[in-house]
Amino acid sequence: MRLSVLLASLAAVCDAAQVKFTNNIRLLFDVDGNQIDAYGSKISNFNGVYYLYGNSFAIEGVAFGIKSYSSVDLINWKYEGFLFDPYSNTPCNDLGGCGRPHIVFNPITQLYILWANAGSSGYPVATSSTPSGPFFFLSSPAAIDPQFNGLQPADFTVEILNNTGYIVFSALNFRDPRAGSLWPPIFQTLHASQLTSNLENTTEISYPVVSVADDLIDQEAESPDIFMRNGIYYIVASNTCGYCNGSIGLVYRSASIQGPWMRQIIAGYSCNGQVEGVLPLVNPSTGQTTYIWHSTSVPGGPRVGFGGHIFQPLQFNGDGSVQDLNCAAKAQFTVDFQAGNGTVASGNATMAGQATPLSAEYDYVCDSDQFVLYQTWTAAKAGTISSVSVNIAASVQTVPLSLTVFRFDSYSDLIAPEYKYTTMGTATFNRTSLSYVFDVANVPVTSNATVQQGDLLGLAISGADFVPYCHLEYSTGTGASSSSGPTGWGHGPQGSWGGSSFSPSGTYRLFQQGVGQNSWRGLQGTISPIYERLGKSVKFFVTYA
Ligand SMILES: *[C@@H]1O[C@H](CO)[C@@H](O)[C@H](O)[C@H]1NC(C)=O
Ligand SMILES: *[C@@H]1O[C@H](CO)[C@@H](O)[C@H](O)[C@H]1NC(C)=O
Ligand SMILES: *[C@@H]1O[C@H](CO)[C@@H](O)[C@H](O)[C@H]1NC(C)=O
Ligand SMILES: *[C@@H]1O[C@H](CO)[C@@H](O)[C@H](O)[C@H]1NC(C)=O
Ligand SMILES: *[C@@H]1O[C@H](CO)[C@@H](O)[C@H](O)[C@H]1NC(C)=O
Ligand SMILES: *[C@@H]1O[C@H](CO)[C@@H](O)[C@H](O)[C@H]1NC(C)=O
Ligand SMILES: *[C@@H]1O[C@H](CO)[C@@H](O)[C@H](O)[C@H]1NC(C)=O
Repeated sequence: MRLSVLLASLAAVCDAAQVKFTNNIRLLFDVDGNQIDAYGSKISNFNGVYYLYGNSFAIEGVAFGIKSYSSVDLINWKYEGFLFDPYSNTPCNDLGGCGRPHIVFNPITQLYILWANAGSSGYPVATSSTPSGPFFFLSSPAAIDPQFNGLQPADFTVEILNNTGYIVFSALNFRDPRAGSLWPPIFQTLHASQLTSNLENTTEISYPVVSVADDLIDQEAESPDIFMRNGIYYIVASNTCGYCNGSIGLVYRSASIQGPWMRQIIAGYSCNGQVEGVLPLVNPSTGQTTYIWHSTSVPGGPRVGFGGHIFQPLQFNGDGSVQDLNCAAKAQFTVDFQAGNGTVASGNATMAGQATPLSAEYDYVCDSDQFVLYQTWTAAKAGTISSVSVNIAASVQTVPLSLTVFRFDSYSDLIAPEYKYTTMGTATFNRTSLSYVFDVANVPVTSNATVQQGDLLGLAISGADFVPYCHLEYSTGTGASSSSGPTGWGHGPQGSWGGSSFSPSGTYRLFQQGVGQNSWRGLQGTISPIYERLGKSVKFFVTYA
């Protein structure tokens, strides 16, 4: 008896894990190197495994189906596929596109119950015997408080608190006479209801989630999540912000689900994001729970698929109020938590023979309309290379993207006229063989594949179209730094080979060639059209056989 208690507590200690979140490291990737494609993510813990759910933008560029990922350490995420076939006939084809997916588990029926936002009445509900599906939709949606029947149910959360299921939802009013010509186009208010005991419907009795102000901030609240701390109900939300890059971050709190609610604004732009959920993480050593606020950050405009995420612990004051978010670019948050059971997932990217960092401050760069890129590296080890993989996002291009893996003799040779590199593999991709998000494009290496440590290798990326393809870059910390962003590369002084302003170093070096620039340049006629994009590298990885 005592021994088993001791073993259990030892096991608990061994299961302690730590995760570090950094504000500027926003893009998440699965263990195969593909971008996590889950807008409006919700992370749930089922059977001691963390699951991340969200809407896929990869295929259609708009919400299309729901993807899930699993992890035991919140770092290595394994893609678990779509929750149901997005091409099948589902309620998701209706308004809302099955947005804000949330799942609760019913221990009595042993069913996972997926709620989603779609349609003009209620919420579609689907069930599955496993957390990653396949889910099957019930024949009728869950009903909400009939007083909102004339409005459109919108963003919502479902959660189990204190053994009771709850939904918090916003009801959209497109016909409110107060709508402005410019803004706001809609009004929406938050409401909380209990779920029925089978967690597949609501009680149809709702309570408003509103502050005493009952102002335009309460009346534009969306993307809610709910949690409980020290017997107090907390509802986080944001203001209307359709796929934009930042919105007011709200926290409501009350001792009763029926209110009254105290409201706080804890961020003006939510660190350029929109809250998507709060993840409670228990520290197994202390039993303390950390509540991780997480939000989707999107560039703004149609490129929703480029969405990243920020994660940070909410900091509570003695009276239960919450401190402002810390949006400092470099802010880091280390959290101790209970590791999931099972083994840490691995995949093509995590097992790669050589790779740029799996996690870094990657930024999207869309410039294949202006540049051919030559990403170079020195082979980290000897062996036979089987493929090189790079993250590329497409949209409406008509010209294919061409990728070539090559080896070369020296950097000066590479940029010299008439130099011929040795081709190791090529592949072309069109927009339909890529996706709207940063999935991996694989180039099989088919010849001259055996390398020695230190060999100079490269990947040429070429796809000049009116609409550029996009890749990911990070700062390597070598070479001169550049203050310019993605669009700045065509302007200002660039490093030129033979110039005196930098000393080339580093394993990962990126060279660029303006599209169509094929001759000596400069007044002396001595400047190569190929020059270094200083201190930058494309995200990629190399697989050895
Ligand atoms: C995983 O761990 C949880 C507790 O953390 C436990 O309840 C559950 O039974 C475990 N599941 C498996 C499959 O080991
Ligand atoms: C929810 O309850 C309503 C009746 O109140 C019913 O019409 C509907 O079919 C129920 N939906 C589900 C998924 O149980
Ligand atoms: C939690 O549930 C118990 C039992 O139903 C109830 O007595 C208690 O008031 C609930 N706590 C809160 C904060 O609602
Ligand atoms: C997105 O956020 C950044 C940082 O606050 C800001 O500079 C930029 O203008 C925003 N973009 C849009 C489209 O609002
Ligand atoms: C892993 O890499 C292999 C070889 O490049 C490729 O065939 C396979 O599709 C990749 N798997 C995933 C899940 O990306
Ligand atoms: C794109 O490539 C796929 C195969 O990779 C091919 O089946 C398809 O026809 C191509 N589409 C266009 C528009 O070229
Ligand atoms: C590269 O591979 C090709 C085809 O296998 C071969 O003809 C050529 O000699 C190789 N080049 C080098 C430099 O190894």
